[in-house]
Parts: sequence; structure tokens; C-alpha cells
Amino acid sequence: MASNRGPVSYTLDETGRLTARRGGGGLVSGLSAIGPGTDAVWVCSALNDSDREAVRRTGGTLDPADTGGQHVRMLDVDAQMHAAAYNGIANSVLWFVHHMLYQTPMEPVFDTEFRRQWAAYEGYNRAFAEALAEEAAEGAAVLVQDYHLTLTPRMLRELRPDLRIGHFSHTPWAPPEYFRLLPDDIAAQVLGGILGADRAAFLTQRWADAFTDCCHAVLGPGIPSGTRIGVHGLGADVEFLRERAHRPDVAERMRTLRAQIGTAPDGRPRKTIVRVDRTELSKNIVRGLLAYEELLRSRPEWRERVVHVAFAYPSRQDLAVYREYTAEVQRVAAEINSRFGTPGWTPVELHVKDDFARSLAAYRLADVALVNPIRDGMNLVAKEVPVVSDEGCALVLSREAGAYEELGEDAVTVNPYDIVGTARALHEALSMGPGERAERTKRLAAQATALPPARWFLDQLAALEG
Ligand code: G6P
Repeated sequence: MASNRGPVSYTLDETGRLTARRGGGGLVSGLSAIGPGTDAVWVCSALNDSDREAVRRTGGTLDPADTGGQHVRMLDVDAQMHAAAYNGIANSVLWFVHHMLYQTPMEPVFDTEFRRQWAAYEGYNRAFAEALAEEAAEGAAVLVQDYHLTLTPRMLRELRPDLRIGHFSHTPWAPPEYFRLLPDDIAAQVLGGILGADRAAFLTQRWADAFTDCCHAVLGPGIPSGTRIGVHGLGADVEFLRERAHRPDVAERMRTLRAQIGTAPDGRPRKTIVRVDRTELSKNIVRGLLAYEELLRSRPEWRERVVHVAFAYPSRQDLAVYREYTAEVQRVAAEINSRFGTPGWTPVELHVKDDFARSLAAYRLADVALVNPIRDGMNLVAKEVPVVSDEGCALVLSREAGAYEELGEDAVTVNPYDIVGTARALHEALSMGPGERAERTKRLAAQATALPPARWFLDQLAALEG
């Protein structure tokens, strides 16, 4: 398997010690289920100087004690090349295209700087193709992941015609009229790169159809190379989550959270609206806060009776737009607190320090989970909450999340741009009776765990072989 982000990333402290930490995001959650005891090799990239130091010390094959037993080969791609490929092309262009994040009167601008970065992206994809060609046994199956590595399948095919190659997209796929913002030759390279695989797979039928539509629009009718298209809707890892959510560190964080949330003037515990995201433009955190503010404005009966617990963990902070977005999230949360807060009540509890145990604690005690992305490949938070919820949790879910295809029926669904509509949905979710909430949560959990990560992976392998 190949992906930009591996299962762990390192930090180097002053004493020269390297500490491995698991990364966030759906891709790592999916692939991490392929544990020890298999002969799978995970090829990933060094993401920072500490990772590069780990590669220098180990020769690139990471210590299994750091990776939970997985065989991981970390590539030390030239730092500048990685920055241009990852920050420049992958996160500022391809991510923006698939999540439709551009403010089109001014952006995007595909100039010579873009072409320079594109050349780096090609080099980066080639480094992966070469490493995979080295690692893969005769006739092996290779699963290449995501928008960072769209060119790798075709390059690898040229180096190693014996391999069976799959590509998997963890993002949405843009519709043709948006995808064609990309220069024609680049659009053709992206599609042609993925079509170098025997099979291209997506999280939902919607994204798979959009990919096929793009192929028709850019390359002409038909999928030219006989590449098969598949759909595998990654689900939550029920066993891992339930076990992890009942460890003492989670119980301790539940106590702290309950104390922060406090009780309403009538002595009953306050209701809790929870959200957990990377601080990511597509997650729509600011509009979520504005919808909560609208709820407090239009339904004063909720004041002092509800707390919005928002965890927004740092992501892609090398990019100025992400830093600005983080600041905006903090500014809006502070504004709501100063407008509505009272001595005994903080309306928004915003926390930005990544803490998985605390996320699980919030999942367990949430009355309402808010998942309102502008666009999202799947969104695992929507699937994780119902699995670990103690007493049932109403889910407010954007119809633009991939998870909507599976969870839409039992969620309260929203148009993510509609602040007033989202405020109404929050009110409806908060008002849902305990019986209905528990029933819906049970059905959501069943849907959410239909394809757990290990099966998600094995299904792809089987389909590639078939
Ligand atoms: C999404 C992408 C993944 C990515 C993750 C975290 O889930 O599909 O490829 O790894 O976000 O983003 P990051 O840039 O931190 O790897």
C-alpha cells in the first residue's frame, strides 16, 4: 500500500529522542486495520524533519514497535519537492478542486509557479512508483491511496507490468464542470494516471460517478483503458472504538467535560452539541458556530441549557489559509461566548489540542453531534459517534458528506450553507425524545459498522484479484 501520510509521524525532542504519533484522518483509520501478521508493506512519505531523522536512523524501515507491528517503509523525498507536491499541488489544488473550495472570481490561478509545483508532484509520484516497484513481490497487489498519488499507478504499471494495481480516493470527486478548472493537460494526466490502475475505487457511488463523468468529459467517451470502477464505503471500527472508549483515561475526561458543561438553572445537566474535526476548510466549522449562535438568538429557551463542545484539531498549518481559518474559528467562538455567556455558562467550549481520548469522551456523552461539511469524502465522525454513544445521540448531518448516502435516513440532514436551516436542525435534534434518539442511534450504528476497516481493505484486495 502507498500513501503520503503513514500510520505514524515523529517528533524529535531536545534530547534527540524520537516519539511516534498516530496521524488523523480517514485514510490512516482505514489502513491501520491491516495489522501485524500480514506481509503487507506500507510505503509512505516523511512529512517533516523529525520523520526525515527517523528515516536516517532506520534506513527507512520503521521500527515495528513504533508502528503497532506494521511493516512501514518511509521515503525521504527531498523536502522542497515534498512541500511543492503536498502543500502546493495536493492540498492547495487537488483538495480544493474535489471539495470545491475555490473562490472562483480570484482563484485558481494556474501560472508558471503552478507548473513548477506540478513538476515536483510528478517527481514525488515517481519516487513512490520506484519504491513500490522495488518492494512489491512478483505479481503482488498494490493499493495506491488518494489525491497525493494520482500519477503513481500509471508510472508503476510502466515499471512493473506484472503487478495488479488499485487506486483509492478518500476524497469526494469533483463534477466535470468543476474538475475542468484544471488546465486540460493536467486534468488528462490526473485521470490518465489513475486509469493506469486495474481498478479505481471510491467511498461512494456519487464520487465514482463523478470520476466516470470527468473521464468522459476530458478524455472522450468510455473508460479507455479497461480500468474497473468500484465503491467501498469505509465504516467505523466497532471493536476498537468500543474497547478504547471504555478505558480509564476516557472516563477521566468525561468527568472533566461534565464539569465544564455544568448544569442548567433548573438543576438538570445541560445538553451537549459535540463536533470533532481537523481544522479543515471543508469541515465548515465557522458556519456550524454561526448556526449555533442563530439557535441561541432565535430560541432563547436554550440559553444556559446547552453547551457546544467543539474540538478543532490543527491541520495543514503550513498553509496560510488554514492558519487564517483556525484564527477565524477561534474568533467566532469567542464572539459567541462574549455575546451570550454568563458567569456560570460558557456557550462554546472550543478546544484545539488533539486528544483522541477526549474526543471519545465527548462522543459518549453527546446529545447531538454536528457534522456539517461543505463536502466530505465520507466523514468517519458521523459513523463513530453512534457506535460509542452511551445513551443515544441525535446526528445533524450535511447532505454533502459521503456518509449521508448510508446515514441520511436516521440523521437530521442539512444544507451546509444554510445557517438558519442548520439552527432549526439543531433545535430539532436537541428536542428529540430519548426513545426516538436511542432507536435512531441503534440504526445509525448498524449502518456505520457495515464495512469495518479490515473488511474494507480485504474487499478491495479481493476485487482487484477478481
Ligand atoms: C483526508 C485525506 C487523507 C489525509 C487526511 C489528513 O482524510 O483523504 O489523505 O491523510 O485527510 O490530512 P493530512 O494532510 O494531515 O494528511
